Amino acid sequence: MIVDDKLRTPGAVRDAERWTAHNYHPLPVVISSAEGAWLTDVDGRRYLDCLAGYSALNFGHRHPQLIAAAHAQLDRLTLTSRAFIHDQFADFCRELAELCGKDLVLPMNTGAEAVETGIKVARKWGYQVKGVAAGQANIVVAEGNFHGRTTTIVSFSTDEDARADFGPYTPGFTVVPYGDLAALTAAIDENTVAVLLEPIQGEQGVVVPPEGYLPGVRQVCTERNVLFIADEIQSGLGRTGATFACDHEGVVPDMYLLGKALGGGIVPVSAVAANADVLGVLKPGQHGSTFGGNPLACAVAIEVVRLLATGEFQRRSAELGERLRAGLEGLLGKGLVGVRVRGLWAGLDIDPALMSGREACERLAARGVLAKDTHGSTIRLAPPLVITEEEIDLAVTQLAEVLAG
Ligand SMILES: Cc1ncc(COP(=O)(O)O)c(C=O)c1O
Repeated sequence: MIVDDKLRTPGAVRDAERWTAHNYHPLPVVISSAEGAWLTDVDGRRYLDCLAGYSALNFGHRHPQLIAAAHAQLDRLTLTSRAFIHDQFADFCRELAELCGKDLVLPMNTGAEAVETGIKVARKWGYQVKGVAAGQANIVVAEGNFHGRTTTIVSFSTDEDARADFGPYTPGFTVVPYGDLAALTAAIDENTVAVLLEPIQGEQGVVVPPEGYLPGVRQVCTERNVLFIADEIQSGLGRTGATFACDHEGVVPDMYLLGKALGGGIVPVSAVAANADVLGVLKPGQHGSTFGGNPLACAVAIEVVRLLATGEFQRRSAELGERLRAGLEGLLGKGLVGVRVRGLWAGLDIDPALMSGREACERLAARGVLAKDTHGSTIRLAPPLVITEEEIDLAVTQLAEVLAG
C-alpha cells in the first residue's frame, strides 16, 4: 500500500484508536467540517452523508435556522438546571406537545434517558393508576429491539454484543417476536404496564412490521389497559415521510419517546411526550436530569419543532424516498437480496456471498458516500432530509458500482 505521508487521516485514525475505548468500530474517515448533506475530511475529501448521525441530522449539517438559534442562545444563557425556570422552556414543551398531540413533555438529553424515563413512568403509572401489586410490573418488548445502552435497557436486548457480561440484569421485561401480534397479546398479563416498541426497527436494519401490526398493538393495549410506548427516537421527526412512523398506520401511542433529530444535530435533546394521566404520575424528586431541558437545548429544539410544523421535511422525505426506493429496488438481483424503504430510510441486504456490510461501507466511503453497516451484510441509509434528487441518484450509482465489484 502506498502511504502518502502528507495525508492527515492515517495519523488522526491512529491517535483516535490510541486514546479511546474501542466501543465503536468507525470507518477510517476523519471529518473536519460539514454543510447540508456533505462532509469534508481533514484531507479535504468530500463525502455525501448517507447516515445523518443515525437520524440526528435530519435537517442536514448546520441548518442555518438551527445554527442561528444556537448562536443567539449562546450569547444570552446556556444553562440554569431545572432548579429554576428559563425563558425557552415553556415554549419548547408546549410546541413539542402540540406537535405530538399530547398534554405534556418531559425533556431529557439522550435517547437512552428518554427510554429510561418511559420505563419509570410506565411502572409508576402501573402501580398508582392501574393498581399493579408492588414490585410486579412487567413491560413487553420485541426481539431485535434497540433502545439504548444503559444496564436496564441492555437487560432486554436480544443482541449478545450489547448484553453479554453486563449482568445482573434488570427484571420485569418479557421479550416477544417483533411483528407477531398473537405472541404480544399472549405475553400481556394483569401486571403488564406497557408495551415498548420501535414502530420500525432501525438498528435491526430498518425492519418494517407487517401492515396491521401497530394498529393491533394499539387495540390490545387499549383493551387490556396497558400503555403503548413508541420509541420514535430514530424513526420519528420526519425520517419516514411522516412526523412519526406510527402515523403511517394512523396509530397514536400513549407515549412518544423522541431524541436524535430533536437536537437539530447540535445538542443532545430527548423527550417523552404523553398525556397528563400518564406523565402526571411523576412528582418532584422522582426523576430528573441536570441538563435536561437546558436553555441551549430548548432554543435549538424549538426551531426543530417549527421546521417540522411546516411539514416540508416530512414531504421531502416521502417524495425523495420514492426515488430512493426505485433506485435501490433496481439493484435487487444485482448484489442486493433485500430492500426495505420508508421515506428516506432504507435497510439493504447485500448478497452475503459478495461482501459484508462493513466491506460495502468501506468501498462506498472510498467513492465518497458514507453509510453504516448494521448486522452482517445489512447496511442502513438515512441521508439528511435536505438531500437532493441528484444526490440520491449519486448514492445509488455509487452503490451499484460497489456491488458490481
Ligand atoms: C430506537 C432507538 N432508541 C434509543 C436509542 C438510544 O439513543 P442514544 O444513543 O441517544 O442514547 C437509539 C439510538 O440509536 C435508537 O435508535
